[in-house]
Amino acid sequence: MTPPESPTASHTPGATPPRDFPIQRGCPFAAPAEYAALRTDDPVARVTLPTRREAWVVTRYDDVRELLSDPRVSADIRRPGFPALGEGEQEAGARFRPFIRTDAPEHTRYRRMLLPAFTVRRVRAMRPAVQARVDEILDGMLAAGGPVDLVSAYANAVSTSVICELLGIPRHDLEFFRDVTRISGSRNSTAEQVSEALGGLFGLLGGLVAERREEPRDDLISKLVTDHLVPGNVTTEQLLSTLGITINAGRETTTSMIALSTLLLLDRPELPAELRKDPDLMPAAVDELLRVLSVADSIPLRVAAEDIELSGRTVPADDGVIALLAGANHDPEQFDDPERVDFHRTDNHHVAFGYGVHQCVGQHLARLELEVALETLLRRVPTLRLAGERDQVVVKHDSATFGLEELMVTW
Ligand code: HEM
Repeated sequence: MTPPESPTASHTPGATPPRDFPIQRGCPFAAPAEYAALRTDDPVARVTLPTRREAWVVTRYDDVRELLSDPRVSADIRRPGFPALGEGEQEAGARFRPFIRTDAPEHTRYRRMLLPAFTVRRVRAMRPAVQARVDEILDGMLAAGGPVDLVSAYANAVSTSVICELLGIPRHDLEFFRDVTRISGSRNSTAEQVSEALGGLFGLLGGLVAERREEPRDDLISKLVTDHLVPGNVTTEQLLSTLGITINAGRETTTSMIALSTLLLLDRPELPAELRKDPDLMPAAVDELLRVLSVADSIPLRVAAEDIELSGRTVPADDGVIALLAGANHDPEQFDDPERVDFHRTDNHHVAFGYGVHQCVGQHLARLELEVALETLLRRVPTLRLAGERDQVVVKHDSATFGLEELMVTW
């Protein structure tokens, strides 16, 4: 299919052509090296996306926060300038309209539906259940014996089981959810492939919504059905889209964080040693890992609804613009020696969960999962090590979330 022309993108003849985006990471534990040059020389830079549309990327911490809290910025995927990284995401997103890709008042309505389930207090109460699930998954992994792929046997199992338990999705094939996210989040998927993957997910969720309507239980699907679907605040389609994005947004990001953090801790034994000596450091360590790894780097996709000025440059109205979270989280103007992994860092106001009205709904749950998953792994498997050579670790570059395809470990 021939990609459509961007309606606004044009550059002066003879000027340097926009660079291709995304820019790959060299080191999995840092932002792409080019982001440092962009922050200094071209903080609001023109790029060409894989769809061949053009857009802007913003790399400075202050600019990223300003952009994401600017009411003149839209997250509506139906806008022609929306900078999706794949044709499949753009087309299927415009069809299914997950609320992450909508604006107020619609966005506010769906977000408010979810927020009560993700407060600090509600998430704190989930700790024993999350710990039990993590222990059970680790028991299974240890009983099966190594070498094993930690991404599927642990990271994906933890993130998927926790979200399924919260929603009230009965035990299900973990690979099913991984495939749905993999296909719907891949830049290489067509709109048909994305629609088919999401259709499978909506089919599963639709069955559960119908069941819970008849017989509510103590789970989030029942709560949303009783409080919002039955009174007619939302249609079944809107509810399915909201449940679908909650699963998709929460699963892959958390999987990536658990797997990449484990790899970093294996690479740098002084870091787990620090955590074993002082377990109270874990919450700060998790936030530092979130900052350093910035797995959701290019998830905040926006369109300028008006001309917007940042660092003395103008993003013209209707152009797509991407707030690069890894750029912001490695900005030396904000973080002293940003490449250093420092569990004692103070004022760690990172933007790994985004910023502004779309800031991650599930961030407290994500922190809890990371704390429990990493603490349990370090405590119960002190001899954990890579099963192959370091350069055999398979990095995932084609997805909206940066992460690992596979991490073979043994103990
Ligand atoms: C380490 C794990 C996670 C990271 C790094 C992460 C990152 C993000 C980021 C950067 C955004 C903002 C996107 C934007 O501005 O366009 C976001 C939004 C969102 N996240 Fe997360 N997330 C994580 C885990 C979770 C979990 C566990 C859940 C739920 C179970 C979740 C649910 C959501 C939802 C529903 C949104 C959309 C919010 C809105 O548009 O108002 N996330 N996440």
